Amino acid sequence: MSDTYQGPNRVFSGVQPTGALHLGNYLGALKKFAILQHDMECVFCIVDLHAITTPQDPKLLADQTRHIAAAFLASGVDPKKAIVYNQSSVRAHTELAWYFNCVARIGWLNRMTQFKDKAGKNSEKMSVGLYDYPVLQAADILAFKGTHVPVGEDQKQHLELSRDIAQKFNHDYGVPHFFPLPKPLIKGPGAKVMSLRDGTKKMSKSDPSDASRINLTDSADVIAKKIRKAKTDSGTVPETTKELEARPDVAGLVAIYAALANISEADVLTQHAGGQFGPFKQALADIAVDVLAPITDLMNRYLADPDELDRMLSRAGDQAAQIADPIVADVRRIIGFRGA
Ligand code: AMP
Ligand code: TRP
Repeated sequence: MSDTYQGPNRVFSGVQPTGALHLGNYLGALKKFAILQHDMECVFCIVDLHAITTPQDPKLLADQTRHIAAAFLASGVDPKKAIVYNQSSVRAHTELAWYFNCVARIGWLNRMTQFKDKAGKNSEKMSVGLYDYPVLQAADILAFKGTHVPVGEDQKQHLELSRDIAQKFNHDYGVPHFFPLPKPLIKGPGAKVMSLRDGTKKMSKSDPSDASRINLTDSADVIAKKIRKAKTDSGTVPETTKELEARPDVAGLVAIYAALANISEADVLTQHAGGQFGPFKQALADIAVDVLAPITDLMNRYLADPDELDRMLSRAGDQAAQIADPIVADVRRIIGFRGA
């Protein structure tokens, strides 16, 4: 059981280097990472091995990785406090993923809703890697004996699978305290940022409409325009959070407002209750620009020096390997390989 795990607390999380990052990634992940680094040891991974579960252009992949690294730094993650590296530079991930392939059950993977959503009717044509994606994710976390995993709500099921794998490994090999059962850190504002065009769908990189999301690279003008065009309804700003339940588009914007302004949804409503959506959206756009413009600026400055980003990633990769390699060496011994 997790409470019998004696090792140190360690935060682990990952972000895919596919497509531009958006406000959901910032509020649901990056902003939380920057806060956590002050309280716990943190390892943040740019998961390029996960990225190739769907086709990626080899000419763009390294740049996409640098883009995420720059976003981490611009969001306040400090490479002196936290390790920020790319997955493919540390061999422990692929090795442990294979061992976990032999622990995870096909029935467990068949239940994963993200694969079903991504594959749709074409599951026969998807890569085996896309199906196996959650096993690699478990290997990511457990190669570091990660105990806490900050993610958005969409990753809850993958985290449950990680715990199932850790528990089965510990049980099957008779090492009850070896792997921790990693806990998701999901709660709090920004755990599920919704699309600007449809309050029942989450903001996503893969939404065909760019107007549905605010990208971290959008200019102030573009941000203001997207918020002005965001879907609301014909009413006015409600007075209580209870009323938001039946108004998903409005609820989505109020949640974004609260998360950006670091206030509660009730406080957002107190400030705007009974008002028209025009002024509400103007206030939201102002806050969004205030928060995001400095981040976009910093990101661009980091991206202007790709060699420095590469040096940071390489150093961090070495640090990450120093933690993960001995853990995977222990796994080899536990499994019983000759020479381990
Ligand atoms: P991804 O871009 O899918 O690799 O996600 C990177 C991180 O951002 C993960 O922790 C996700 O759970 C989180 N995330 C992605 N979309 C959203 C969203 N709309 N709201 C909150 N968190 C999100
Ligand atoms: N699957 C995660 C996502 O799409 C990314 C990820 C890969 C991850 N490995 C991880 C998140 C390990 C947390 C821990 O968002």
